[in-house]
Amino acid sequence: MSSTAMASVSAWPEPMDVPVSMRAMVFRRFGPPDVLEEAVLDTPLPGPGEVLVQVAAVGIGRLLDLTARAGRHPYAHFQLPHVLGADHAGVVAALGEGVDSVKVGDRVAVFPVVTCGSCANCADGREEACAGLSLVGTHRPGAYAQFCAVPSRNVHPVPGGIPPAMAASLALVGPVAANQLAQAGLRPGHWVLVQGAASALGSTTAALARYLGARIIATSRSPEKRRILTAAGAEVVLDATAPDFAERVREATGGHGADIAIDNLGDPAVWDGTLDALARGGTVVTSGAFLGGKVQVDLLRLYSNCHRILGVRTGNAEAVKALWTQAEHGFRAVVDRAFPIARAADAHRYLEDDNNVGRVALSLGPQDWDA
Ligand SMILES: NC(=O)c1ccc[n+]([C@@H]2O[C@H](COP(=O)([O-])OP(=O)(O)OC[C@H]3O[C@@H](n4cnc5c(N)ncnc54)[C@H](OP(=O)(O)O)[C@@H]3O)[C@@H](O)[C@H]2O)c1
Ligand SMILES: [Zn+2]
Repeated sequence: MSSTAMASVSAWPEPMDVPVSMRAMVFRRFGPPDVLEEAVLDTPLPGPGEVLVQVAAVGIGRLLDLTARAGRHPYAHFQLPHVLGADHAGVVAALGEGVDSVKVGDRVAVFPVVTCGSCANCADGREEACAGLSLVGTHRPGAYAQFCAVPSRNVHPVPGGIPPAMAASLALVGPVAANQLAQAGLRPGHWVLVQGAASALGSTTAALARYLGARIIATSRSPEKRRILTAAGAEVVLDATAPDFAERVREATGGHGADIAIDNLGDPAVWDGTLDALARGGTVVTSGAFLGGKVQVDLLRLYSNCHRILGVRTGNAEAVKALWTQAEHGFRAVVDRAFPIARAADAHRYLEDDNNVGRVALSLGPQDWDA
């Protein structure tokens, strides 16, 4: 694991002629990582308003990939065989009818959250609250494949100097982080507590908050990951499961507490500590709860301290734009490493064993199918 290691094992591929069939990594039954197997599928055709992306790299997520493959996804239903793969990057290979926002050969990153674009929430710029929201790699075939067809609205050009694994790693967690911090009202100088700051999303939220001028309190259960988080620039690094956690936050912030606390883990065992560590007027933001998420809230404490608890489903168009503007100015996600697609099962095991600091990606260059 490494907080700074750039997984640039895959280069941007040369655009290829679109074949009628393609290589893909699928699962035909739910189960352990070994259920992932290679298959030959029809290459998708981009429909009207869609872009066909020749995939170069794809991120692996805790919920969207590991939980889904294991058959424990809390809300989605899968038709098997299924192709996983949400946030990805690649080269535009073909355009559906009516698309002129990109051209064949462009390097793009794909924000995998597909929304209707016309409901009241979408019209308000709150696409994350769209009732018709669906996800690439969950509700439609994903990017563990040579090609993936996605709406052109979900495709963003990648600025120069960003390799595919980094572009894929910025593509989803970047906009989620940007949306979390914007909705919480981040200002330079704020203390931002990030629970699970070694996770793919947490590490990028911490990096973005720091990039925007915040002071970071990062947590991990692992001493080795805490060492890496300190080296990566977190000012205060703690174990949130320690009994004196909230006191340590108060102490480190001169009695103030955290202005913003990010909790994408939903671990009931650390929830009280998060609230105890919050400053008066502070905000807790959550965009995930894979550790259960059923917690108790003391409303007396909530209102008397003017605390807010915000659910932020995911990123939205404005956050995607903001994120890529930051990326043009030099902001980067935290990438742990990239595995070749042939070793997708090893990559799932690596993540399942909690080894990562940052995003784990798969690379899909021509050589990566037989590595
Ligand atoms: N809303 C969205 O669009 C979106 C997008 C991406 C992710 N998410 C959410 O963000 C959360 C993290 O996902 P991710 O892919 O970033 O995760 P990840 O990289 O797999 O990291 C998970 C982290 O959970 C921490 N953890 C704490 N207690 C744990 C336990 N008992 N078992 C296992 N891990 C434990 C681990 O931290 P330590 O080992 O350092 O303690 C680990 O770093 C999930 O809830 C996911 O659904 C949401
Ligand atoms: Zn909508």
